[in-house]
Amino acid sequence: MKTAERYAEFAAREAHGVSPVYERLSLAVSRDDETLALLDTLPPVKRQPNLLFGVVRFLGGPVEDPPAFHDYTVANWPAIGVEMRTRATQTNEAGRCAVLLPVLAALPQPLALLEVGASAGLCLYPDRYAYRYGDQTVGSGEPVLECAATGLVPPTRSPSVVWRAGLDLNPLDVTDPADVAWLDALIWPEHAHRRARLRAAAAVAAADPPLLVRGDLVDDLPAMAARAPARATLVVFHSSVLYQVPEPRRDAFAETVRGLPGHWIANEAPDVLTYDALPKPPGVALQNVLALDGTPLAWTRSHGQAISWFR
Ligand SMILES: C[S@@+](CC[C@H](N)C(=O)[O-])C[C@H]1O[C@@H](n2cnc3c(N)ncnc32)[C@H](O)[C@@H]1O
Repeated sequence: MKTAERYAEFAAREAHGVSPVYERLSLAVSRDDETLALLDTLPPVKRQPNLLFGVVRFLGGPVEDPPAFHDYTVANWPAIGVEMRTRATQTNEAGRCAVLLPVLAALPQPLALLEVGASAGLCLYPDRYAYRYGDQTVGSGEPVLECAATGLVPPTRSPSVVWRAGLDLNPLDVTDPADVAWLDALIWPEHAHRRARLRAAAAVAAADPPLLVRGDLVDDLPAMAARAPARATLVVFHSSVLYQVPEPRRDAFAETVRGLPGHWIANEAPDVLTYDALPKPPGVALQNVLALDGTPLAWTRSHGQAISWFR
């Protein structure tokens, strides 16, 4: 896909109805030949809207006003380009726990959680957060994760987690202000609730840090899985990660995870793993597919704000 199309699609399918600021900005970039030419000097994987917008916000640039964004980006391209080459979108969204919870709560307890592509590990605390599925609440404390659920009876209790560990190419540390600043910059401008959620979830993680290891989700997975306590159900899971992994490596990952004991939960875009059949997604907004052990169960919105169960 050409860079212009990528930005137009991001505006229409990801930002539309979720972030008017990024919808407007992404559409403007899709028509801005000068900015597109600068983006095309980067490797294709680095041309993502979320990465560009996050880096500009991180550097203190304007994202609310497209002409001001254009001028800032052109004037500061050397610094922006360096940041885009070295950083990756590592958005860590604790809200995604709300779509993982129904599956986690239904597995034999207690659980040993191993997240691949964990970023700062904020999705490793599904037992510590509170949830609101319409009228039904689960758990207590902060943050409270709101999720619109259809076709599903929400769980009545949180899972029991006895071990939590994560693998990431570049683990982030919630006790490092620079890492938290980058996580904050990746949150979309109007999403004050997600910024508050980041602070609350980071406090949970900082109080009881997970085991986070730098490593690759194929090469280093078996050794990490071997560290899980045998008395618990091992759950390898991942959310919004595989779009960053080249296709042959995704296949190698699926084969590796299938060879492990326990269960495998995927919450990923529909085109990154192979499923026999998927029903039509609800609406035009981009949805992830939630799957257990390779069987698709539900469509989920990208920040965990909705789940539509179809199985
Ligand atoms: C968009 S973030 C998602 C973080 C988290 N799963 C969540 O849902 O909030 C994707 C993460 O996957 C990591 N990642 C990408 N490729 C990876 C690989 N081959 N092995 C391990 N981690 C990887 C990135 O570094 C990044 O932190």
